[in-house]
Amino acid sequence: MDAVTCTAPVNIAVIKYWGKRDEALILPINSSLSATLSQEQLCAKTTVAVSGQFTRDRMWLNGKEESLENPRYQNVLREIRRRARKRKIAGEGEEKGTSLSDALSWHVHICSVNNFPTAAGLASSAAGFSCLVYSLAKLFKIEGDISEIARQGSGSACRSLYGGFVSWNMGEKDDGTDSVAEQLVTENHWPELRILILVVSDQKKHIGSSAGMGVSVKTSELLRYRAEHIVPRRMKEIETAIQNKDFQTFAKITMQDSNQLHASCLDTYPPIIYLNDTSKQIMHLVHKYNDFCGQIKVAYTFDAGPNACLYLLEEEVAGVLAMVNHCFPPIEQNGDQHIRGLQVEELPIQKD
Ligand code: DP6
Repeated sequence: MDAVTCTAPVNIAVIKYWGKRDEALILPINSSLSATLSQEQLCAKTTVAVSGQFTRDRMWLNGKEESLENPRYQNVLREIRRRARKRKIAGEGEEKGTSLSDALSWHVHICSVNNFPTAAGLASSAAGFSCLVYSLAKLFKIEGDISEIARQGSGSACRSLYGGFVSWNMGEKDDGTDSVAEQLVTENHWPELRILILVVSDQKKHIGSSAGMGVSVKTSELLRYRAEHIVPRRMKEIETAIQNKDFQTFAKITMQDSNQLHASCLDTYPPIIYLNDTSKQIMHLVHKYNDFCGQIKVAYTFDAGPNACLYLLEEEVAGVLAMVNHCFPPIEQNGDQHIRGLQVEELPIQKD
């Protein structure tokens, strides 16, 4: 038997991916950009093993057996084995440990855990698929870019393979070979940048991202306009802002892009609403805080759920936490301190 264990962190998009032009290959209608969080807090941990004793491929997620029938798992496993076979034919990958020939003829067992709520809009599929593909690539001794494989598990997963700020270029080719992730800057580029995650709800979302974006692509004219005319410009502007550590521009585009994602969801028919009243109160609070400071000090962004991610500089963390605690005061329940409707996590943006 041979086994590999890896961890992969979640990423938080500032230019959002919403919509596919090819459902099977997971090719997006626009490029996107995100920051990868530090490994310590929100991450997936996956062990993959191959053995001659295993009678079929199996997978456990958070301790519960899951079916591998899902085409996304099938696509990932097929692609990994295809790449491994190519290496075997080239006479590579036989150096140490289990030989590629054995690994390719044996079945695989996968065991994955998330240390945060699954499917609550906290990019769990990004960390999960990124971790799965990275571990399988190690086990099957695959080299070169693997973001194309992670993308076929879950689009946003391709961005979690790198630290720092990472773009996912939509690409132009029909086979998806140019729809890959690329690191824009490393985790050391902007060390003062922080993310606060405000957990408004850890409930499973009523409509998942894949189903939601499918309906949006079919029905939202705003989404089409955004993908063609707005995102290309915003990608260039935010990349420059990140390179120059220009927080004002970075923060403004981040908020505008989050708002446009949710506007496109509302423009979808029937409409999709991920934000709740607490999310809207957080948006309002952020704008009030920035107005009071006379410049943008903090930016919000929301994925397919009500939880807020705040981007800010280290020097603002204490002030913003005080504001959040003041507006959402902790309440005591059964002897435990709870922040009303919110839990706050402070996360440095970096990857070991
Ligand atoms: C709102 O990557 O979960 O978080 O490719 O169908 O698995 P699939 O979708 P997924 O979508 C994430 C959408 C988002 C925005 C983003 O992360 O860019």
